[in-house]
Amino acid sequence: MTRAPLASYPALRLRRLRQADWIRRLVRETVLTPADLIWSMVIHEGEGQVPVGSMPGIARLSVKEAAAAARQAKALGIPAIAVFPHIDGAKKDAQGTVALDPDGLVARAVKAMKDAAPEVGIMCDVALDPFTEHGHDGIVQSGRIDNDATVEQLVAQGLMQARAGCDILAPSDMMDGRCGALRQALETEGLQDVMIMSYAAKYASAFYGPYREAIGSGTLGTGSIENPADKKTYQMDPANSDEALREVALDIAEGADMIMVKPGLPYLDIVRRVVEAFALPTFAFQVSGEYAMLIAAAQNGWLDEERAILESLGAFKRAGAAGVITYFAPRAARMLGA
Ligand code: PBG
Repeated sequence: MTRAPLASYPALRLRRLRQADWIRRLVRETVLTPADLIWSMVIHEGEGQVPVGSMPGIARLSVKEAAAAARQAKALGIPAIAVFPHIDGAKKDAQGTVALDPDGLVARAVKAMKDAAPEVGIMCDVALDPFTEHGHDGIVQSGRIDNDATVEQLVAQGLMQARAGCDILAPSDMMDGRCGALRQALETEGLQDVMIMSYAAKYASAFYGPYREAIGSGTLGTGSIENPADKKTYQMDPANSDEALREVALDIAEGADMIMVKPGLPYLDIVRRVVEAFALPTFAFQVSGEYAMLIAAAQNGWLDEERAILESLGAFKRAGAAGVITYFAPRAARMLGA
């Protein structure tokens, strides 16, 4: 007995191209490789590793271990590492002065990593939050983050990072005008080859929670006027999308080479819009909270951890991202069979 085709002739059977692995591989639209990954790494002043409670599998690394990790990145085919410092509370102040220290943790780690693996790109966050007592990304004056005073401090921080050997400055502070100020300072100082990857569309997100533990960030919002409760006066409103395009356009005009959208998965629509509008390398940050959610579910047996990791990273590629900043980088690179 022959059955009538499902649909009218010609039969529309999209499953034909899914029937075997070979054909699925042949028609696959996007591919994730280790070259798409930027390894998000937390470093600390002490020796050895200090596990981060809210990010199982992640530990703060010593400078020595960061250097070893850079060699590992090279072996795994991971092009770049983004470093985030955990600073001793005693060294913090209201202005984040230690952010400028040419012999500080960040400078020492960058030098050690570049010595260990010069082929691996090093990216540094330009922002004051790891260094301020209150945990804000800028200088607080009368309860407000002083934009222009902060930019001045950020330029000094960025120049210090560049002189230490950092390849990519990644301003994550969301002050207005910081990309232009950084770019101009780099030109003036003969550091014109240093790249800027701007956190152009960075949202005031709940998904940064575990990161704040990881870097021992000051507690926002103690009630004092010098410690506003949140970052909503400088980071973007999660409800906005057009505004992201304005932020990106400005940062490109000011001299950013690459753009970042942050957080990651909840903001893939922004990634897609930015890629379509500007066609320049656009990255997304799979942030600490995204890492924590996935691991927590896997630890409960609710998700297949490895599949979920690769699927989440692949989603960034599908959205059009040039790459992903992720805490999963070394694991994912291993899974991808580097
Ligand atoms: C701060 C900064 C943050 C992250 C990277 N740089 C936190 C914040 O803006 O409060 C978050 C990273 C993560 O959650 O993984 N300038």
